[in-house]
Amino acid sequence: MDRIRILGGKPLIGTILIGGAKNAALPLLAASLLTSKTLRLTNLPNLADITTMVHLLAELGVSVSRPRNESNGRHVARTISLTAAEPKEKTAPYNLVRRMRASVLVLGPLLARWGEARVSLPGGCAIGTRPVDLHLDALRSLGAEIELEEGYIRAIARRGLKGNKVHFPSVSVGATENALMAAVLADGETIISNAAREPEVVDLAHCLVAMGAKISGVGTDTLSVSGVSQLDGAEHRVIPDRIETGTYAVAAAITGGDVLLEGSHLGLIGAVSDTLSKAGVAVTKEHAGIRVRRQAEHTLGTDVMTDPYPGFPTDMQAQLMALLSVSRGASMVTESIFENRFMHVPELCRMGADINVHGSSAIIRGVPELSGAPLMATDLRASVSLILAGLAAKGETIVNRVYHLDRGYERVEDKLAACGADIERVTEDQE
Ligand code: EPZ
Repeated sequence: MDRIRILGGKPLIGTILIGGAKNAALPLLAASLLTSKTLRLTNLPNLADITTMVHLLAELGVSVSRPRNESNGRHVARTISLTAAEPKEKTAPYNLVRRMRASVLVLGPLLARWGEARVSLPGGCAIGTRPVDLHLDALRSLGAEIELEEGYIRAIARRGLKGNKVHFPSVSVGATENALMAAVLADGETIISNAAREPEVVDLAHCLVAMGAKISGVGTDTLSVSGVSQLDGAEHRVIPDRIETGTYAVAAAITGGDVLLEGSHLGLIGAVSDTLSKAGVAVTKEHAGIRVRRQAEHTLGTDVMTDPYPGFPTDMQAQLMALLSVSRGASMVTESIFENRFMHVPELCRMGADINVHGSSAIIRGVPELSGAPLMATDLRASVSLILAGLAAKGETIVNRVYHLDRGYERVEDKLAACGADIERVTEDQE
């Protein structure tokens, strides 16, 4: 199993190219099931989760054409064409869904297009129990009959889905995406209220509109959909990854560096840039992207609570905590989305951080310095927070189980090393 070895203490200086958003690309890939025509996606990130989704779509009978990446210097063209002419399978099997919960995003499109779907129930995961009741209730509102049998969700809509009111009692990104993908092919009008407003949901809606869907209210918490009988093909560019952007912004801040996050834009990271500004980090718009630099010798502690967009993203909570661990003063971080998303805390404490967790809040008392240590990654964002801590720590940090990292960060060690970090991947056969 690969590990990442870091020798901390080097300021990051340079340019980091931000890739396409994993969490936008996953539902966009699933949307290919909605049409017999070709959906062409560009700016696709090269990540393990994307490979898993493409593999699942191929199992379902989607023909996938992925030209070899042509590299012109640092920029790599990443395009995929997907054509779902006829289904080979309407079952998303356990062995793929258990690897990635986002596989459940094929449920709405399969059901809308073919009137039936069988998708393995995703289990809990490291960050929480993560049920799918909101997805199922939304599809039931659109007329699907849903049963749970032998660990599978079996959904049927023999005479097609019917537009209806879908109200979410709490905000869910994935359930909004599933409901939207189902509603675009349903008969009649659907109003989705208390919908998630994340940029990834907006990106999906834009792609669906390009495919011929009729959606209004995009970007608000109420989506109105007027169902159409079929969708066309389209070409769509995946938005930049706001979590990758925020992660490298913290990397610049925690090392006292100065980094240009190329290809990203401030509109995607409002709450993160506000929080970083309060902590004493300059986050400014540049022609080519966003420039991030620490303004003083130390960053300052600040309080933050995670919330659905436009609030502070839960997917940035662990990374911010690494920064607050070495910021002057005390901070309180409250996690309101997932019940078990503090697994990075014991690992940060092993590096000398002073963090106490009380229920869903963590009190962080900034320490002058962290010290390198061998660490265990537990999930994607926790893993990267340990890398960030390692970049700032004195001495050597080894982060084990980096396969979590490869699910969501492309060539993290290369991107950081190109800005002066002393970081390398150690593969098993090197040891
Ligand atoms: C998406 O997950 C992201 N994944 C997550 O990214 C992100 O952390 C999360 O949204 C919140 O922003 C993808 O987009 C592929 P939710 P999702 O449904 O859609 C509860 C990462 O690191 N809930 O918005 O699964 C749920 O348990 C990750 O890239 C129900 O109770 O998240 C959670 O507490 C991991 N019932 C809350 O809602 C449901 O049916 C929000 O989850 C669905 C969700």
